[in-house]
Amino acid sequence: MYRTHTCGELRGTDDQQTVTLAGWVARVRDLGGVIFVTLRDRYGKTQLVFDPEENPELAADAKRLRAEWVLRVDGNVRKRPDDMINPKMPTGEIEIVVTSIEKLATPDTPPLLPEDEFEPSEEHRLRWRFLDLRRARMQRNLAKRHELAQITRRYFSDLGFMEIETPFLTRSTPEGARDFVVPSRLHHGQWYALPQSPQTYKQILMVAGYDRYFQVVRCFRDEDFRANRQPEFTQIDVEMSFCDPDDVMGVTEGLMKKIFEDQLNVPFPDKVQQMSYDEAIRRFGSDKPDLRFGNELVDLTDLFAGNGFGVIDNTVKAGGRVIGVLAQGQVKSSRKVVGEWESFVKERGLGGLMPLRKVDGNWPGPLGKFIPESNLEQAAELLGMNLESDLAFVAVAPAPRVHEVMGMLRLELAQKFEWIPADKHELLWVVDFPLLEYDEEAKRHVALHHPFTAPDPATYEQYKDSEPTKILSQAYDLVWNGEEVAGGSIRIHDREMQMKMFNLLGMSEEEAKTRFSFLMEALEYGAPPHGGIAFGFDRLVMLITGESSIRDVIPFPKTTQAVALFEGAPGKIDATQFRELGLSPKSDTQN
Ligand code: AMO
Repeated sequence: MYRTHTCGELRGTDDQQTVTLAGWVARVRDLGGVIFVTLRDRYGKTQLVFDPEENPELAADAKRLRAEWVLRVDGNVRKRPDDMINPKMPTGEIEIVVTSIEKLATPDTPPLLPEDEFEPSEEHRLRWRFLDLRRARMQRNLAKRHELAQITRRYFSDLGFMEIETPFLTRSTPEGARDFVVPSRLHHGQWYALPQSPQTYKQILMVAGYDRYFQVVRCFRDEDFRANRQPEFTQIDVEMSFCDPDDVMGVTEGLMKKIFEDQLNVPFPDKVQQMSYDEAIRRFGSDKPDLRFGNELVDLTDLFAGNGFGVIDNTVKAGGRVIGVLAQGQVKSSRKVVGEWESFVKERGLGGLMPLRKVDGNWPGPLGKFIPESNLEQAAELLGMNLESDLAFVAVAPAPRVHEVMGMLRLELAQKFEWIPADKHELLWVVDFPLLEYDEEAKRHVALHHPFTAPDPATYEQYKDSEPTKILSQAYDLVWNGEEVAGGSIRIHDREMQMKMFNLLGMSEEEAKTRFSFLMEALEYGAPPHGGIAFGFDRLVMLITGESSIRDVIPFPKTTQAVALFEGAPGKIDATQFRELGLSPKSDTQN
């Protein structure tokens, strides 16, 4: 047997046992004679002892051990005296009196030391990922990831959902983001696309009668860099037939309840609140509002417009709004600091930012100059300001941009001034999304979620011919602490309706048939009403582990530039590969 126990296993009750352990050297300490070595594997750490009085040769050998060498040791378990017990280590009750060492690998000092207390740069961590993965934090994160996958599979199977695999080599069916494509060797000039999600496949499985499907599945999106997104990431993908939104939301909440109660020890709310998209934008400037703190956006348009303040009056006349946000405790912010917050909103497209505050009985700045004092006082009250200590920021700009940017300011202020309680968890459903939005660049409507989302029947009838952007959809997003952790919808299951939707998106019948022929065909032959959802698995693990980047819960993530630093991808391919794929290397050398 290679080893009798792992490095995290032995306890006081194992006293006097003869054991064999294997692992990496975490630390060597020479305490003026006795040598202590900590041996580590992914289960934990165990202290090894070498006493020169008992075995001078072995102790001398132990002194020469270096960090990250790989050892196999034989020895005897010894219970530590009470005052030597280390309560921080699960194996802290014992140590191993070593009788022999076998060195399995004796590397030079590695470029990243897993036991170092200094946090290496992320680039260095990703370059030397296999060493980074030896760190306790990463071991814990990957263990949590594994655990969540197990919980998910057990949860859905128990409810009668079947895990069914769907292809990775598929055809390109745009879903709002960009496809990664793979050239076909056998059919030159033809391309596979990697799935952005199994959306169409899971709908087809519903038509096939597999009325409860789930899959823990990799998705691929060639998007431009955005925080907490990866070009390949994992979803818990779910679809059900004969369901209404409450059924899908109920199943989704069931998994969240397990996570809250079993993983985080946090009580799950009796009812998860719902908020319309409109309200979320109005109150928080975001479709994924963080409800762990207040500082809601306050609409001050009626109080501030019409008082002769040019910028406000003109912008409001053109349909703009005046929005304020409270910054408690900041009344004494210097001009420079206020200027920095103004730059923050300017970089995001607003024209400026005005402080609202009372100093020595006056309201300094342009607001005080133009707006009557009673209006300023009412504004302060609406914002919940304590005039002694608080400041508020006010901006005027076209809606909803002004809401979105002031929402970002709200979050940035909360980060900076630490307004977010560490142990609070807030969950909500955002519902009543618009079905479509107008894409100025493409000069056509695009689906806010994806083109298979069912419209809300009432607003569809009302606005389909006049103002399509006012049609609402039957979509729902689950937001946890300001992160969108899941999104889904009831789908269109009627072929005619699906075609109308494609028409609204500016697609001709022919184009829709070519692009989505297999889905259109399936909808023709007995599609049940159906709906579903997909969780962002990496984001869930991130929130469970308390990390702030999904890269810290993915074993081999890409950088924000979509580069794999450790294995070196993307990389070049050789001329033979080009030839076999029927491609010209020209396109490669030109870039
Ligand atoms: P959606 O595009 O909203 O829906 O994705 C579902 C969830 O996946 C996560 N997510 C991501 N996580 C990491 N990196 C990314 N690039 C990334 N993109 C999305 C988010 C998101 O809530 N087919 C539909 C689902 C459905 O309608 O059933 C879909 O993919 O947490």
